[in-house]
Amino acid sequence: MTEKAAVRVLKRAKATHIMIANAKGGVGKTTLTTNLASQLSRIAPVGVMDLDPQASSSFWLQLRGKRDPQILSLNSKEFDRGQVTRSWLAHQVSQRVNYVICDTPAGLQSPKLDQLLKDTDILLIPVAPSQIDIHATAGFVKSLLLNPQYRARPVRLGVVMNRVKRNTLSFQKLEKFLSSLNIPVVGLLRDTQSYLRAVEEGMGINELRSFAEEDRKGWSQIIQWIRHIEKSREVEALERKHALKTIEAGTTQLLDTH
Ligand SMILES: Nc1ncnc2c1ncn2[C@@H]1O[C@H](COP(=O)(O)OP(=O)(O)OP(=O)(O)O)[C@@H](O)[C@H]1O
Ligand SMILES: [Mg+2]
Repeated sequence: MTEKAAVRVLKRAKATHIMIANAKGGVGKTTLTTNLASQLSRIAPVGVMDLDPQASSSFWLQLRGKRDPQILSLNSKEFDRGQVTRSWLAHQVSQRVNYVICDTPAGLQSPKLDQLLKDTDILLIPVAPSQIDIHATAGFVKSLLLNPQYRARPVRLGVVMNRVKRNTLSFQKLEKFLSSLNIPVVGLLRDTQSYLRAVEEGMGINELRSFAEEDRKGWSQIIQWIRHIEKSREVEALERKHALKTIEAGTTQLLDTH
């Protein structure tokens, strides 16, 4: 089967919406967005929604051009001008792709964050190992956990440790901080020039000839976690459907006996 045919087979009715966010700037939100898009596009159709006025992900998509597998670009200008709602935008994309990956700007907070959370299934938080980043991320996670929209409809949270250099003190501090949060660390991205080289070509590092085994392992862990979440969501949806049917059948039986 060709890659395009495989992609068509995997196309489903409801896309998984993955938001990449951290109120701190420069932690790797765009790097995570573009590389996740590149990795997932090997499995199924992907759309990237760039909500950052800096438009770095959109620029990456332009550099990518018609490279296969193609990744759908979603222009967010209408959304920024308030001409369309994000739900409308998300619905449009859901018709065409299996994954919507949303890159967000630094400083993201309510009410924009609340609005985004409504359509999000998975929220990935990249964190870099520096004291300043750890402090800012702690503030972001706290505001998220207290956010009324999040509390009403929690999304699956996962942390991605970025720019990792093992055996450094800052890495150990980050590990300690993350283990105190009770949020799963779903992956670990090395600090490597490959990310810079890939972005210049409109690629993910998985598309570089020099894709290192260590990076491959880090990425496969992230993809596996996402697939696992998707499966558990499908099981939950089936269980809900089954429970509803059982209630309906029980109610009909009750009405019949009266
Ligand atoms: N794992 C990594 N290894 C090496 N360089 C990295 C890595 N992750 C990110 N970078 C580099 O760090 C810089 C900031 O990364 P990026 O643009 O992804 O952060 P961001 O959170 O999107 O920033 P902003 O808040 O400005 O949108 C970029 O130059 C990027 O290439
Ligand atoms: Mg960015």
